Amino acid sequence: MTAKIISGTETAKAIREELKIEIAELKEKHNVVPGLVTILVGEDPASQSYVTAKNKTAHALGIHSEQMTLAADISEQELLNLIEKYNNDDKIHGILVQLPLPKHINEAKVLYTINPDKDVDGFHPVNVGKMVLGEQCYLPCTPHGILELLTRSGVKTSGAEVVVIGRSNIVGKPISNLMLQKRDGGNATVTICHTRTKDMAAHTKRADIIIAAVGVPKMVTADMVKEGVVVIDVGVNRIGKTAEGKAILAGDVDFDGVKEKAAAITPVPGGVGPMTITMLMKNTLQAAKQAAGLI
Ligand code: GUN
Repeated sequence: MTAKIISGTETAKAIREELKIEIAELKEKHNVVPGLVTILVGEDPASQSYVTAKNKTAHALGIHSEQMTLAADISEQELLNLIEKYNNDDKIHGILVQLPLPKHINEAKVLYTINPDKDVDGFHPVNVGKMVLGEQCYLPCTPHGILELLTRSGVKTSGAEVVVIGRSNIVGKPISNLMLQKRDGGNATVTICHTRTKDMAAHTKRADIIIAAVGVPKMVTADMVKEGVVVIDVGVNRIGKTAEGKAILAGDVDFDGVKEKAAAITPVPGGVGPMTITMLMKNTLQAAKQAAGLI
């Protein structure tokens, strides 16, 4: 079997077209322009490229976007003050602080300071709590993107054995929770594997769907999966540089090997990455509509 490639690039493009129309209508009918601010602390090249991509996409869809880049040694208090400024700025509906933050800044304190109504990442405890309870909230962008990829590709999740590898707050924990909920893309039987799991392959071999979010290049190999599995690769690992200095990326899955056994698989790049950015745009639109009392 050679796998169907689940293209995040194509799916994201289709969703962005839908969003573009909705954003234009919001402006025309209600004179509301969604506003997003991204805050980057320091000069990590991967974070820089993510934030640039987020702003570029926002701009292309008609979202007002502001990109704040702060020195790596900025004090925690200065960052909190800046967030408060945007909490009180009516033009800004969504605030995103790119993670990870430098070690001297308390990440939890920063995330707690963002007004939950503007928390388009879905990282504030209020939104995390609502998500777990299945209430209306901002869904975290990467898990939300994975659900959209699965449902729009016609992958049946109800009753499926799902194995999530990784237990981060950004991906592993929320996607596990969402996939067990009674919702589109949910109703699955979910197992979470992590660094202390004794026999990872014993779990992955019986999975109908594998979500790999560990940050270890090509960790999931063909001998660890069964024929017909659906594989979602969240990993974006920089494994080298081209002669031109461009990063060479690899996922958490050995794509070339696993695609020979899988029914469907996402590539890296061009899989989950574009979906994450697109879901951020969707959340920003939701934030603007909520602020205008339209939902
Ligand atoms: N770092 C890695 N992924 C994300 C994300 O989805 N949002 C933010 N803010 N930081 C990240």
